[in-house]
Amino acid sequence: MREIAEEVFLVQKKLVFQEIDSEASGSNLDQHYERQPRDLVPTKYSRIWLSTLLVMITIMVIVGGITRLTDSGLSIVEWDLIGGILPPFNEVEWLVQFEKYKAIPEFSLVNSDITLQKFKTIFYWEWGHRLWGRLIGIVWLVGFGVIVLSKVAPSGWIIPFFLIGVLIGLQGLVGWLMVQSGFSDGMTDVASYWLAAHLGLAFSIIALIQWYLLLLRRDSASLMLGRRNRDRFLNRWVNVFLIILSFQIIFGGLVAGIDAGTSYTDWPFMAGEIFPSEYFSGNSSWIESLENPAFVQFNHRVTAYLLVLVSLFIWVLSSRNPVTFIRKLHLFLFLAVVFQLTIGIITVLTESTVEIALIHQFCGLVLWLIAIWVQFETAYPKRQRLN
Ligand code: HEM
Repeated sequence: MREIAEEVFLVQKKLVFQEIDSEASGSNLDQHYERQPRDLVPTKYSRIWLSTLLVMITIMVIVGGITRLTDSGLSIVEWDLIGGILPPFNEVEWLVQFEKYKAIPEFSLVNSDITLQKFKTIFYWEWGHRLWGRLIGIVWLVGFGVIVLSKVAPSGWIIPFFLIGVLIGLQGLVGWLMVQSGFSDGMTDVASYWLAAHLGLAFSIIALIQWYLLLLRRDSASLMLGRRNRDRFLNRWVNVFLIILSFQIIFGGLVAGIDAGTSYTDWPFMAGEIFPSEYFSGNSSWIESLENPAFVQFNHRVTAYLLVLVSLFIWVLSSRNPVTFIRKLHLFLFLAVVFQLTIGIITVLTESTVEIALIHQFCGLVLWLIAIWVQFETAYPKRQRLN
């Protein structure tokens, strides 16, 4: 009798388990919730809007990278929100801009032989970067206004959507403070810590939008179910990976900010040494350390090795997870890290040419997007198909 009862219990348990975990039942649940217009209709418009912003900000990171690598960032010396929308129209207006540029240290210290023609090129990169920034602001503002006024915002999402706008505005401010840092006496580039802050904030906004998009793709029942099935230990380690990756992006910005990629161009050594002897030179303050090429490049390299180890560890850890998709995803993450490490090495070996440095920056962004996605799928696993 007891055996029969146990069997019935197990069969029932299996049925419940299957219902939660099989793809078929997942779609049943989805269908159930898809029938509820409150959950489905509003997120469609928000998702289109957020996706547009995500693509625009990704393009912005690339344009920002080109602006930096072509040394165009200091070519416009003023910040005029409305007046700066249009570029100079005639030769007189160009000469006015050129004269203003001639007054900054970058011109006198490193660029005194620049021609008007060359100045126009660097001007257009910076102008394009700022114009695209304005467009991002407008797309956020118009989208937010339309979503709020036509009441299609999913419930509880107005504040998160507003937060994106605040961060976009803050990014504009950080961008301007960064440019201003390049006009101080003796400066021929923007300060590297401002560049790292600007890059870090861009990556943070991208992460936030991507996270919101991933959340909005799922209904609350599926998220709750996912949370219940979460492998907490694995999830914690993916968090650790993300924290280290965040530091790595900031370190990357610091390397880029002082062109440290051109100071040590061998690998696996740095100027023939395992540990660069210059690592501690001139490190009497934090700011000085951040401007020491040996210090920032060595940290960037070591953090990359650490990321390979941690992603390998979490891939191994994921092998005990019953969900094939989760296991594959962690393998994918590990391979993406190895790929990024390889591009980093090529960047150093080719002395950070514009093209390779841009590829390294773009792949770093793709790795970041993959990592956020892995984090989400680990936090809210969707399918629990047992193999
Ligand atoms: C997972 C590993 C890595 C990640 C996520 C990463 C990410 C980044 C990022 C975000 C930047 C800033 C790009 C910019 O603002 O233009 C950067 C710059 C840089 N990284 Fe990495 N990196 C990694 C590994 C490496 C490795 C292993 C090396 C060298 C051995 C390396 C060398 C460089 C150099 C030289 C720059 C400056 C390039 C420039 O001047 O634009 N990176 N990295």
